[in-house]
Amino acid sequence: MNITFAKPSYPPTGAYVVLAWEETSANRAVEALNRKTRGTLKRAMTSENFTGKNGTTLTLLAPTGLRAERIILIGAGKIKDFDVREAQSAGGRILSKLNSLGIKQAAVNVEFVSQTALNAADCGAHIAFGASLASYRFGLYKVKKALTNQVVVRKLAIMGSEPSKMRSRYKPLSAVANGVFFTRDLVSEPANVLFPNELATRAQALSDDGVKVEVLGPSKMKQLGMGALLGVAQGSVQEPRLVVMRWDGAEKDAEQRPLAFVGKGVTFDTGGISIKPSAGMGDMKWDMGGAGVVIGLMRALAQRKAKVNAVGVVGLVENMPSGNAQRPGDIVTSMSGQTIEVLNTDAEGRLVLADAIWYTQKRFKPRLTVDLATLTGAIIVSLGHERAGLFSNNDALTNELVEAGNWVDEKVWPMPMDDEYDKDMDSDIADVQNIGSGRGAGSVTAAKFIERFVDTTPWAHLDIAGVTWSKKSKKLVPRGGTGFGVRLLNRLVANHYETK
Ligand code: BES
Ligand code: MN
Ligand code: ZN
Repeated sequence: MNITFAKPSYPPTGAYVVLAWEETSANRAVEALNRKTRGTLKRAMTSENFTGKNGTTLTLLAPTGLRAERIILIGAGKIKDFDVREAQSAGGRILSKLNSLGIKQAAVNVEFVSQTALNAADCGAHIAFGASLASYRFGLYKVKKALTNQVVVRKLAIMGSEPSKMRSRYKPLSAVANGVFFTRDLVSEPANVLFPNELATRAQALSDDGVKVEVLGPSKMKQLGMGALLGVAQGSVQEPRLVVMRWDGAEKDAEQRPLAFVGKGVTFDTGGISIKPSAGMGDMKWDMGGAGVVIGLMRALAQRKAKVNAVGVVGLVENMPSGNAQRPGDIVTSMSGQTIEVLNTDAEGRLVLADAIWYTQKRFKPRLTVDLATLTGAIIVSLGHERAGLFSNNDALTNELVEAGNWVDEKVWPMPMDDEYDKDMDSDIADVQNIGSGRGAGSVTAAKFIERFVDTTPWAHLDIAGVTWSKKSKKLVPRGGTGFGVRLLNRLVANHYETK
């Protein structure tokens, strides 16, 4: 879908979309359109009881006095409540409305008599952003048939009094959308296509955005002593990779230590020798969701030229059972020097993160580390598909993540991190074991395991197992890979960590 910005005009074809607020005094475009249609519009509004209430729409076919085939009024609620988030969700609604009507081309008039803090340029830009996010589809493998929820909208013009200002406000938002789309693409790919080396190759495309990308293979990882990550990888014919991505966008004299983002990238998780049941195992193609978010986030930060130094590190492995696979009971030595008793080969993500996080801390001395992982089924039991689990050793970082999540509607929920849970991870014969001793709280014990590989750096772990994939479409998030985490962490950076 192609999005453009222009001055208001009556479109010669397609749909003419107009925002309508409940405060009629704000409705400049509606008033003008009513005159243009010689009163037809107001008559339709009255007979349909359309008052501009948020979430409602009114469609007029073949309107008098207009060449466009349809007028679509989008109820936007009270203009005093119309903020950035409302604008984005209006954009999402516009897209799905146009799509369900099979409309290929539309022009959206966002002009209004200002009665709010939101200016017209931001309003137009965020409507465009919402429509763009909602227009994502993964159609790569529909060769003979169309997707059932195919997007038919080709051209969307956003019309307001200052198109160039809207365009420049939209630019960083479209960078974020590109990051989200990159993540959604990666998460959607099947595991026969997207194995560790292929995912590393895809990440290398970030060099086009000015990100420095390094790829480490198994011999380098062996040299570094990453026995935990390598133990997971050894059962697969696909070699593991560790990808390091650096975006140095802070002002030169700021000498800012980087923020670090670390992702679990298990390109397929069979469970290994502790093999999973077959029902639903196909979902484990998106067990690289954390890595996908880190890669998409780096694209978003780089494309919008965020004034921050950030490093993304993803550990990429395939967890398979084979004659060479790791066995339950094996003891591996992690890069940190701690030994790990692998009591369950299906608790593999934490093993990958243990080495990826340790490596990141030692090499980059980050100001803070956020890791993301589709880590536990238990977080789905706790929080379902609405919120990600948040585990942290730092209250300030916790608050910043909660706030950023509420802002972008990628919500997180702080989970407990009491010392008592940590005892559960003590092994009889090694330093730590990779599963709890079976007393529940599976997401917490997983986080406590990871914490053993965190030094004094402020750290947060996001368990995104419940939110990485969605069976239902939401306003800005079509069903499938969600990209959950990209907008959240981009917001965290924008709110707190960019140099002026
Ligand atoms: N990748 C899974 C977690 C998962 C489950 C993600 C469902 C998305 C949907 C992870 O590697 C795993 O297998 N975790 C185990 C841990 C257990 C063995 C302690 C789990 O949750 O059952
Ligand atoms: Mn697993
Ligand atoms: Zn896994």
